[in-house]
Amino acid sequence: MFDIQEIRSQFTILNQQVNGKPLVYLDNAATSQKPNSVLEVWTQYYTELNANVHRGIHTLSQLATEEMELSRRKVQKFINAKHDFEVIFTKGTTEGLNLIAYILTQKLKKDDEIIISYLEHHSNIVPWQLLCERTGAKLRVIPIDENGILQLDYLDQYLSEKTKVVSVNQVSNALGIVNPIEEIIAKTRKNSDAYIVIDGAQSAPHFTIDVQKMDCDFFVFSGHKMYAPMGTGILYGKQEVLEDLPPFHGGGEMIATCSFDGTTYAGLPFKYEAGTPNVGGNIALGAAIDFIGKIGQATIQNHENALLEYAQRQLLEIDSLKVYGEKANRTGVVSFNLEGTGISSDVGMILDKMGIAVRTGHHCTQPIMDFFNIAGTVRASFAIYNTFQEIDSLVEGVKKAQRMLS
Ligand code: ALA
Repeated sequence: MFDIQEIRSQFTILNQQVNGKPLVYLDNAATSQKPNSVLEVWTQYYTELNANVHRGIHTLSQLATEEMELSRRKVQKFINAKHDFEVIFTKGTTEGLNLIAYILTQKLKKDDEIIISYLEHHSNIVPWQLLCERTGAKLRVIPIDENGILQLDYLDQYLSEKTKVVSVNQVSNALGIVNPIEEIIAKTRKNSDAYIVIDGAQSAPHFTIDVQKMDCDFFVFSGHKMYAPMGTGILYGKQEVLEDLPPFHGGGEMIATCSFDGTTYAGLPFKYEAGTPNVGGNIALGAAIDFIGKIGQATIQNHENALLEYAQRQLLEIDSLKVYGEKANRTGVVSFNLEGTGISSDVGMILDKMGIAVRTGHHCTQPIMDFFNIAGTVRASFAIYNTFQEIDSLVEGVKKAQRMLS
């Protein structure tokens, strides 16, 4: 049992009216709200500790460095990485995926293959298309069925000695579908030497992550979807994989020695952390992990799954409402449309007038929308602080939208 009102009291932002109605925040897959403990750590950094890290002999610099490195170790534990230096601070999932696609350039040649899936966010599509343009490699896409479920027999067909990268998300941002990454990773390891990249943007906020058990080469996620500030994120890479690959950004911090005769690079993790990092944000990410740890990931997952089941059951009672991925294993997200009744943004605007925040449109997943032959969906997405009463408000709001738009 957990005290949801006590949890909600830690999020000042939730206690407000929007358009004259109590805020119902159901856009957590876009970004979650931040608890006061995270905001306090962030503010404390700027009011008491602000200094650049890894550079200064002075006390503030040393304290800031210690705090940021402590946060790195919290992330290491959070994802069960073998070493803390396998944890690279980034500004989010998008940067992580672009970084990986860039540093793999020398490893691919013409006619090699990169496998992704139909369920990917644009940030797990476009960096690979750019890599294909640079190298002449080809993209192969695992299709989905009418429930949004990946057709893994295609993965079996696609995997070969030409496969150099397999990159899939653990949870789809648009539909909330939980993908069988254990099976995908096992098949990939058995049938190729490909690098395995897992986009964890929508799973890290909801699941226990164990990168060693998963046996992926890379795992990327964002802080801002899991109660941490925007502009924070993590790239995990296996030690032997990262040590074998070239740097990404050049600049301060990532060098061992720099001269006009040639530069040598720092070891991990600094080889991939050129420039001044988001020190306050990275420290606050550690506070977000503490927040999650106090509640417990199992409690978070159970509560969000109960919200999803409750929401889906009630929404499906509405005439002509279609839930995308209805029969798939999902978490945290219900994505739907009122068929024949306006477009998703009309529904979203009516909900907004009732203080209910959802995302509408293509959710940066246009291929999924093309597959279902729609322009977009209404997406409600959940976090630990959402209540069953808020779901009731959503359902009432959708019914009202249907009346207004018919
Ligand atoms: N990728 C984020 C979303 O799904 C922004 O809304």
